[in-house]
Amino acid sequence: MTSNSAFPATRMRRMRRDDFSRRLMRENELSVNDLIYPVFVLPGQGQRQTVASMPGVERVSLDGLLGVADQAVSLGVPALALFPVIEAGKKSEAAEEAWNPEGLVPTVVRALKARFPELGVITDVALDPYTSHGQDGLIDASGYVMNDETLEALAKQARSHADAGADIVAPSDMMDGRVARIRAELDAGGHILTRILAYSAKYASSYYGPFRDAVGSSGNLGGGNKYTYQMDPANSDEAIREVSLDIAEGADMFMVKPGMPYLDIVRRVKTELQVPTFVYQVSGEYAMLKAAGANGWLDEKACALEALVAFKRAGADGVLTYFALDAARWLKAGQ
Ligand code: PBG
Repeated sequence: MTSNSAFPATRMRRMRRDDFSRRLMRENELSVNDLIYPVFVLPGQGQRQTVASMPGVERVSLDGLLGVADQAVSLGVPALALFPVIEAGKKSEAAEEAWNPEGLVPTVVRALKARFPELGVITDVALDPYTSHGQDGLIDASGYVMNDETLEALAKQARSHADAGADIVAPSDMMDGRVARIRAELDAGGHILTRILAYSAKYASSYYGPFRDAVGSSGNLGGGNKYTYQMDPANSDEAIREVSLDIAEGADMFMVKPGMPYLDIVRRVKTELQVPTFVYQVSGEYAMLKAAGANGWLDEKACALEALVAFKRAGADGVLTYFALDAARWLKAGQ
């Protein structure tokens, strides 16, 4: 066969030939401004524990947290998301510790904001770290999570975080009507500028396993599950309804969670609703990349960066990721 120089007229490989033209036509780029770093916080001082299923992640007490915050600030990471590890003795059926103004979260928020006023502080609003049964809400005699009773508890919890100076409260509980209830409570307390990051499309995912180890809620949950409030992984239109409700209730930012298995949901939210869209690369996604990297089966850094830019391509404005500090360092070093 002779070569026909007129064919093909369009050669996609021309633009891929050199680094300069690949860079010129790059559509999406990950930046440090896209990153939120989740941190597991322990009570007390001088405490630091590894998490077996999340290599490279540590639970730290306030002194260690200030060190983490210092790194985040110097790398330019905009915000931390705090997840408390609550002592077994402080967990209860009705989760009263969740709105204790002297509890772990308000205490560390006050200390963080005093030391690093420019660093965004996001707090998780959900009862699971505080309940003896490990559910995100209050349960009735049958074990069913009661919606409206839980809203009152979440409102008190969010208020205690905002009173302590949290910049963003992030309800991750999936109760109906919680954004409106929390917004009303914050406004009544004068916190009209405290933002709400709603975990609007939060799926009942098995990828949360390592997180539940990290916060110690898996034992409490036992064989239980969260199917009566978190979303069915098979659904997509339902996510659009969830985000739409949270828009109407006054949320400022909207989360899809988990991340990589739900890129289609990120894209739909961004395209159909045009709101600030965030995605959570959850503990199980992190654990998989770490495990494959440690075994030499995957290049951890390359795969982590590929996953992060995939979130951008899908339409995310920001990503909660356990790789946030590493990614910020990789970006700074020019990868
Ligand atoms: C619970 C909560 C979960 C995560 C964040 N907040 C787990 C759950 O719903 O049981 C998971 C995050 C992760 O896996 O990294 N309110």
